[in-house]
Amino acid sequence: MSCKRGLIIAIDGPAGAGKSTTARRVAERLGYLYIDTGAMYRAVTLAVLRAGIPIEEEHVARVLPHLRIELVPSLQGQRTLLSGEDVTEALRLPEVTRWVSLVSSFPAVRRFLVEEQRRLGRHGGVVMDGRDIGTVVFPEAEVKVFLTASLPVRARRRLQELRAYGIAITEQEVAAELQRRDELDSHRADSPLQCAPDAVVIDTTELTIEEQTERVLELVRQRLCNTRPESASSCAEPE
Ligand code: CDP
Repeated sequence: MSCKRGLIIAIDGPAGAGKSTTARRVAERLGYLYIDTGAMYRAVTLAVLRAGIPIEEEHVARVLPHLRIELVPSLQGQRTLLSGEDVTEALRLPEVTRWVSLVSSFPAVRRFLVEEQRRLGRHGGVVMDGRDIGTVVFPEAEVKVFLTASLPVRARRRLQELRAYGIAITEQEVAAELQRRDELDSHRADSPLQCAPDAVVIDTTELTIEEQTERVLELVRQRLCNTRPESASSCAEPE
């Protein structure tokens, strides 16, 4: 049996499918680095909102070289620093969520962040979650997962998270916001949200966090030991 170390694990999928929780747990169990790329797009959006500039590509592109975004692993997951300030909580503000898909659709922003993401993951031993990790950032990732879940379940999960952050919002509002963002993310020209043909689809609608984490870890074990996934469905072959 041939085994190797330091894989790149790409986890993509729509908003609220459980990517960050799953990715963080998988990283913990493997002793890998967890990188939440959504936080990077959110940090750029927060900086743009704070700067009060028009949300147009030429204006946003001008501030990019001045941004210092740092991802710091912590016991509670990744903390995000923007020019030295811990903005982890601010990144969840509804205002940031409202604008992040537009900011993320600008090719200048994607080029800037993808370069940094490739740098962070180049040595492997990393679990990275986002929308385009398996398709654009690391098309050569050894393990690719596309996490999905039904809209009502995603909305309920997101509602709980937002309430924990003290944000007052209804389940209907959350569902509408998730749908709007998925629509924008899936239809933009540059690096849209899509399932890589060689990604394994995991529908988390009926799964617990522990179960979804275990499914991904099973794919990692299979990959490390060069065995084929047994009953997994990929995007290339619909269920
Ligand atoms: O946590 P949630 O699923 O709400 O989203 P996120 O991962 O924090 O990402 C926020 C937004 O950033 C997404 O809706 C996308 O517009 C954008 N994003 C992206 O374009 N590419 C990525 N690799 C990650 C996030």
